[in-house]
Formats: sequence, structure tokens, C-alpha cells
Amino acid sequence: MKNYLNLDDIPNLQNAIDEVITLKKDAFANEHLGKHKTLGMLFFNPSLRTRLSTQKAAQHMGLKTMVMNFSNEAWALEFEDGTKMSGLRSEHIKEAAAVISQYCDMVAIRAFATLSDKQKDESEQVLNNFARYASIPIINMESATAHPLQALADAVTLKEYGLKKRPKIVLTWAPHPKALPHAVGNSFTRMVQKLDAEFVIAQPKGYELNPEITKNTPLIYDQDEALEGADFVYAKNWCSYEDYGKILRTDDQWMLTAEKMKLTNQAKFMHCLPIRRNIVVSDNVLDHSSSLVIQQANNRTYAAQWVLKQLLENG
Ligand code: CP
Repeated sequence: MKNYLNLDDIPNLQNAIDEVITLKKDAFANEHLGKHKTLGMLFFNPSLRTRLSTQKAAQHMGLKTMVMNFSNEAWALEFEDGTKMSGLRSEHIKEAAAVISQYCDMVAIRAFATLSDKQKDESEQVLNNFARYASIPIINMESATAHPLQALADAVTLKEYGLKKRPKIVLTWAPHPKALPHAVGNSFTRMVQKLDAEFVIAQPKGYELNPEITKNTPLIYDQDEALEGADFVYAKNWCSYEDYGKILRTDDQWMLTAEKMKLTNQAKFMHCLPIRRNIVVSDNVLDHSSSLVIQQANNRTYAAQWVLKQLLENG
């Protein structure tokens, strides 16, 4: 593995899941691999879990970290080729990526979707330009269309709590007052498609994810029907993909409640966090013992650690 840009960079997901679970048992076992090496962490957007879990993972691997909030600390970057840079953007990605490569041995980047320019978001302008101009491995800490560190942590959590063969997993859209990106929904979908599971996605009309991601996964427009017999319910909001960036409804009919969870097979509840209480999910679902959100957050450390280990081992 040379970079971790999306889930498809993992050569074998099942092996990766097992290796993450092994890493959890002795977190400092590979500390020597990162000695005298540095992980750069660049944030164009806020974070709690990704920032702290990836730093913790780096500590486990013996790496030093350098963290920079690009949105307010760095020079504004120009990404277009051949531009006359007379505006507000002071530094070109060509120099920035090359310079960062002098200071770091690998670099992790968070750069969300604009949700205003679908073409630009789908081109992964920030992530792909770093990959193009840096001479060190790149890690995706959530880009415009993917959140593969979250998806690997979720895969581990499903394995740890998936007590039966071929569980039913439901990814359900849930309400939110802000327009949110598709990255988590996309990567969770791509990840579950690789597992031996019955998988359905529930969303109101107009909220279908990118069909190139959902492929043959059944799309269900009735949340109650989708929840029937579910073993895992993963709630997440995303804005409209078709009517790009738009919020199409603001009612709370799709909020996950204890009443709705009764339709399931005593399902485990999952969410990547942060979560808006009593908007996405009711308190009594989130506070119930079947909620796995904290376990998911814990697994973020070991998923990131697995990625760092692969990149360090590949030199
Ligand atoms: N789930 C997740 O990526 O959380 P943060 O946005 O806080 O990093």
C-alpha cells in the first residue's frame, strides 16, 4: 500500500480487520517502525476523533506528529495549473506539497466537499493534488467523497459485534439541519459491499447516494420496512446527491427512535459522530447499551494505526 486515499487501497479487507484487532491487543508492539519519522496532519476542516485518534495511532507507532490547520494558519493554496496568481491564494500546491514532503515522512489530509461544485468535489481536488505533487505517502482523513479511516474502524466494529453469520446491516439516512457531505455514507457502503452481509440503504426520495457507489445495493424508501429484522443500524445524514448540496426535507420522520428500533432484531446502533441528539437519533437510542458509537470512535485509533503500519513497512 503506497497511499491510503480510499478503501480500495486495502489489498484484503478481511485480513486488515483481523490485523487491526491484533494491533489493539498490543498497541505499542510496532513502536520501532516510526522512530525518527514524522507524520504531517493537515486540516482544511474541523475534527475531534480523526485528529486525536490519528495522533494517538502515531504515538503507538513511535511517530512524531506535526499538525496544521490549513484553513486559518497556512497560506491559501492555489490548485489550478497555469493560473496568474493575482488573487488571494498565495502559494501553489506544487510548492506546498513538495515542501511538506521535505519535513514529513507521510502526510494525512482532511478536506471536505464544497457541496457547491459537484465536479470539483468528485475530482477530489485537494487530496489528488497532494498525491500528485507530494513525494511521500498520503492518508485520507476525510475527503470530498470518502472517509476510509472511518470505514475501516466501522468494519472492525461490525466484526467485533457481528455475532451471527450474514447479519442484516441497514444504512439509513437521518435528518440534519445542515447540508452534510456523502463521504461517510459512500465509504460505509463500499466497505459493507465487501462483507458477507445483507445490506440495504434507506433514504427518502431525492436522497439516493451516487449510483456508482451504491451499485446493486437495494435502496428502500420506507425506513420501517428497511429496519425490519436489522442486526445493525447505521444512521447518517447526507445532502441530496442529485440536487447537489441541497436539503430537501427538515421534518423529523426519519429520526431514529426507540419505537423504530423495536422493528429490528435488537439491532446495534452505529454512527460516526459527531451526532445531533434528538435530531438524528433520540437520546434513548444513543444512551442505550446497544449503541456502539463510543466503540466505533475507539476503533478509529487502531484503524489509523494499521494504515500507518502499512505505509511505514512499505518504506
Ligand atoms: N467521525 C469523525 O471523522 O469525527 P471527526 O469529524 O470529529 O474527526
